[in-house]
Amino acid sequence: MNDAILKSQSRSWNRHAAQYEEIFLDPYHPRVDNPLWNAIDCVVQSGAKVVADLGCGTGPLLPYLNARFERVFAIDFAPAMLERARSRLDKKGLARTTFLERPMHALDDLAGQVDLALAVNSLVMPEILIIDRTIANVKRCLKPGGSFIGVVPSIDAISYHLMLLVDQGVESGFSEREAERLASLQIERRNYDFAMGRFRTRGLRQKFWQSFEVELRMRKAGFLTCEIGKVLYPWDEAESGPGGQSLAGHPRSWDWFFHARV
Ligand SMILES: C[S@@+](CC[C@H](N)C(=O)[O-])C[C@H]1O[C@@H](n2cnc3c(N)ncnc32)[C@H](O)[C@@H]1O
Repeated sequence: MNDAILKSQSRSWNRHAAQYEEIFLDPYHPRVDNPLWNAIDCVVQSGAKVVADLGCGTGPLLPYLNARFERVFAIDFAPAMLERARSRLDKKGLARTTFLERPMHALDDLAGQVDLALAVNSLVMPEILIIDRTIANVKRCLKPGGSFIGVVPSIDAISYHLMLLVDQGVESGFSEREAERLASLQIERRNYDFAMGRFRTRGLRQKFWQSFEVELRMRKAGFLTCEIGKVLYPWDEAESGPGGQSLAGHPRSWDWFFHARV
């Protein structure tokens, strides 16, 4: 495992903790269709169960989990994220939650203890060895009948957005070349490696996923099934076309939702 990579990424995430909401899309916003809520609500007898929020970040899910589960583990390798996460909880929530500052593949002490593992936009280390080891260790920490549920950034949604912007540019009179140039600037195309599903910005290196890769890696780690769904985001103004035209008439953009079972 490459400790230097993990350390440098943990430092980068740490630097973004204070302005997190300004930079990242919010998958929990009421205007977002997110299958995550239903999946969490379907956990039977959750009041007697253990949940782990892996890569919990600033902890937006923690109050919701605290209200439903007996015990919560909140794991992140960025201390400033954990600090913000702690501040969201009242005394009762804090008593029920164990905060662990560590990379999310380091789960040996939780082997066989967790009913539900969650990873919302946190399975993002671009290194395949780190991702595969993380998923394998998540599986090991689950009890029989347990689930691993999460959301991962979609690389094909970026291609989709690019295509819509180029089309709109051409339709509003730009040459194809100029439309492509403007659209590429807008989505920061030069920061993506589309073939490998990687994105680089502000010191962060992030993995973006195709749904087939999610299924493949879950099966490789030994999960028996993996359902795939979409988290659907409304188009916002920042994503509109070169003439400011809204993309609202088009099917929405998405991240990949997954539910893997042991
Ligand atoms: C995009 S944020 C998502 C945070 C949170 N799950 C949410 O939904 O708001 C990604 C978080 O995962 C953490 N993270 C990324 N890779 C990690 C790893 N390998 N181990 C532990 N934490 C990680 C980052 O520090 C960051 O807080």
